Amino acid sequence: MLVKCVKIILEGDYVLVNSNEILSRALKEGYAIPAYNINNLEWTRFILEECNKDKAPVILGASESAISYMGGFKTVVNLVKNLIDYLNIKIPVVLHLDHGKSVDACKGAIDAGFTSVMLDASSKSFDENVNDTIEVISYAKSKNVSVEAEIGSLNGEVTNLDEAKDFTLQTGVDSLAPSIGNLHGIYTGEIKLDFDLLGGICKSAKVPLVLHGASGLDENKIKTAIFCGVSKININTDLQIAWSTSLRKFLNYDDKAYDPRVIIKSGELALKKEVHKKNELFGCINKAN
Ligand code: G3H
Ligand code: ZN
Repeated sequence: MLVKCVKIILEGDYVLVNSNEILSRALKEGYAIPAYNINNLEWTRFILEECNKDKAPVILGASESAISYMGGFKTVVNLVKNLIDYLNIKIPVVLHLDHGKSVDACKGAIDAGFTSVMLDASSKSFDENVNDTIEVISYAKSKNVSVEAEIGSLNGEVTNLDEAKDFTLQTGVDSLAPSIGNLHGIYTGEIKLDFDLLGGICKSAKVPLVLHGASGLDENKIKTAIFCGVSKININTDLQIAWSTSLRKFLNYDDKAYDPRVIIKSGELALKKEVHKKNELFGCINKAN
């Protein structure tokens, strides 16, 4: 089920869109769209500025915990819309609920103006996951919001190929996040991703695939994942590490710094450099037209 890309035009000519059009184009043309997690105003601004400079479409992922940290769904929606306007951002931007834990959370995000939601009911039974996903899709469809679901679970239970096929057939979900050995956070030990399984899921599910836990994966693994049908790549930890490493250096260098704006901004260049590096690796630079 691919709903048409909705463009929400405010006073300027910026666009907040759902993820369908940009993900299906990425799948067709063999690159991936980054989904960067936002944690506060500054991160949102830095990511928007760098992606705009790169002319790269971007998905801003907000987890439930980040949303409540930032002041709720409406605060996040207004923050993103107003930054897009203030910074004169010209690229397609998706505001996405990352790992929504319930149907209600997804509905709340949709009502507030998110243009994309992920229902993560992967810890439930297959049937419950199907039913909850259908409920979210029927709510989202009328508002042109795209829906991502997860099948298998990132804590080690890899996705079953037949279930992935049945799941997309039964739900009509827009994109699917499989579990192929990928993990959130910092990987320890050898990273083993099942690319045969990923390719099989891509063939049978026939929707853009999402790679979660992509921080720490080398260039080769990222490129292979894109080759196997991944069109959206989620990154949080790598940005956190880049930003906090730089900030820590700054505070060690200047132990008298106290202005929070100066302190938070000391991680700006490192975060932007990391965003640019990922944009290059994912092949999404100059794809914003
Ligand atoms: O949903 C968010 C991601 O999957 C981020 O994972 O922190 O390992 O980059 P990461
Ligand atoms: Zn994730």
